[in-house]
Amino acid sequence: MLIASADFAAIKLASRILASGGLVAIPTETVYGLAASLSQPAALQRIYQVKGRPSSHPLIVHVAELSQALPLVQSFPEAAKKLADAFWPGPLTLVLPRSHSVPDCITAGHSTVGIRIPQHPVALQLLRELGSPIAAPSANRFTQVSPTRAAHVAVDIGHDLELILDGGPCEVGVESTVLDLSGPKPMLLRPGGISREALEFVLEATVAEPVRGIAKAPSPGQHHLHYSPRAEVRIATAAEIWSSAASLARAGRRIRVFTAQKPPPDWLAPATCDAWIWPADQQAIARDLYARFRQADTDQVEVLIVELPEPTGLGLALADRLRRAAGQG
Ligand code: TXA
Ligand code: MG
Repeated sequence: MLIASADFAAIKLASRILASGGLVAIPTETVYGLAASLSQPAALQRIYQVKGRPSSHPLIVHVAELSQALPLVQSFPEAAKKLADAFWPGPLTLVLPRSHSVPDCITAGHSTVGIRIPQHPVALQLLRELGSPIAAPSANRFTQVSPTRAAHVAVDIGHDLELILDGGPCEVGVESTVLDLSGPKPMLLRPGGISREALEFVLEATVAEPVRGIAKAPSPGQHHLHYSPRAEVRIATAAEIWSSAASLARAGRRIRVFTAQKPPPDWLAPATCDAWIWPADQQAIARDLYARFRQADTDQVEVLIVELPEPTGLGLALADRLRRAAGQG
């Protein structure tokens, strides 16, 4: 395993590795991705092996510019143009009917493909250098927490790939929003870095969410136990969060609380309980959330008691990830 600070030489090396069929972990503004060149079928297959990901889960494609996306789709409808204009490069993945140029192994039998232009200078420079699209899921093992630092990738899957490009901590910290434009109405498959309100503003239309609990999930990212730390995650309301923490801690369990609420004035911190009190800025919460999940595991926290933020703006993605971590997709 090699971790390299993502300077000019390292990006060139990454490009050569990808062009010859290797795997490279790359920084994006959302989370680190496990990248293979779209023109290297064996490398694309290896992504599934390294992640332990079922072949029924499609990979998203990253491109440097719109002209690289167009050959991958049957058409690029007006709604997609508006959204690409507004949010690309950025944390928005558009799902569109695929063309025959997309390798079958990354679409998992779907007739669609998910595409985005990432907004990270290293990812963009690498895409330009390579001159071909890159397929990249998040660089973690299936159902585990996505990596937002190069060191997270190294710990999780470092031995199974050729190079980790270290581009520093990810700015957004949660994955891209996945929006399906292949049907009659825009459908939000995964809330993420671009808010639903922002999408609706640009589209001048409402964005629907798939009905939960239907037999065949439209997007496998909807898998209910996803983004999970090893600690048990329990959801509590703002009103009850400190009292539930106290009673569990008194029972001798190692507890951590994720909340916007300050402890009550009479709070006597039990020795086995501590907290991450959220800053007011949702972006700051998103940037740290996955690192905090990992830290809880390192600190051998047994139960994480979490509050769900208001599901508006970035809060929708935060609440989604916290619910999934609790196994309540
Ligand atoms: O922010 C991100 O999107 C990161 C960075 C690396 O770009 N990537 C990422 O990839 O999160 P992944 O594979 O971990 O999640 C992509 C999500 C999955 O839930 C996948 O099922 C869904 O997008 N997806 C991809 N292609 C799809 C398609 N054609 N139809 C429906 N869902 C799709
Ligand atoms: Mg993922």
